[in-house]
Amino acid sequence: MPDLTPVLSSDAIARRVDELARQISTDYRDADLVMIGVLKGAFVFLADLIRRVEVKCLAIDFIRVASYGSKNQSCGSVGLLKDVELNVAGKDVIIVEDILDSGLTLAFLKKHLSSMQPRSVKTCVFIDKLERRQVDIQADYVCHTLKEGFLVGYGLDYAEAYRHLPGIYNLNFN
Ligand code: IMP
Ligand code: MG
Repeated sequence: MPDLTPVLSSDAIARRVDELARQISTDYRDADLVMIGVLKGAFVFLADLIRRVEVKCLAIDFIRVASYGSKNQSCGSVGLLKDVELNVAGKDVIIVEDILDSGLTLAFLKKHLSSMQPRSVKTCVFIDKLERRQVDIQADYVCHTLKEGFLVGYGLDYAEAYRHLPGIYNLNFN
């Protein structure tokens, strides 16, 4: 069994999610906002965030891309598994992703959503991992920045395990 080292407690996460929600509420106060969660990893983060965001009009949708599967390395290509269902034309969009790592997923999603004639597209990530960036992309909103490691918990998985943990842990492969 791999062992887990605590990285972020649920209290530390809640404090930052609060701050981020306040920032988004200020930036989008009068907006017609659609927050799009990237399945499955972002579902816990999105759920916490939306309950703290106060804007004129907020809709939620989900998108799903092929990502890590059961491995811990990105394979270099990204495919769409499930598209958004709402019409985002003319809306302000925020893509909510769990981890920004190589940047391939977020770059793909930004291009995809931008092709739907939204009023604007921004990105919000729970964790910005600086270690393995391959694409020149930065998230507009970042909850936490971490240098390295393979992280699980708070929606993040390894081979579908650990998503339910309330904090973030580093998974040590032995
Ligand atoms: P990117 O396309 O390389 O930026 O990959 C981003 C995706 O890889 C995220 O949406 C995660 O699903 C997955 N990922 C990257 N690093 C981790 C990690 O440390 N733990 C769990 N999933 C990760
Ligand atoms: Mg993901």
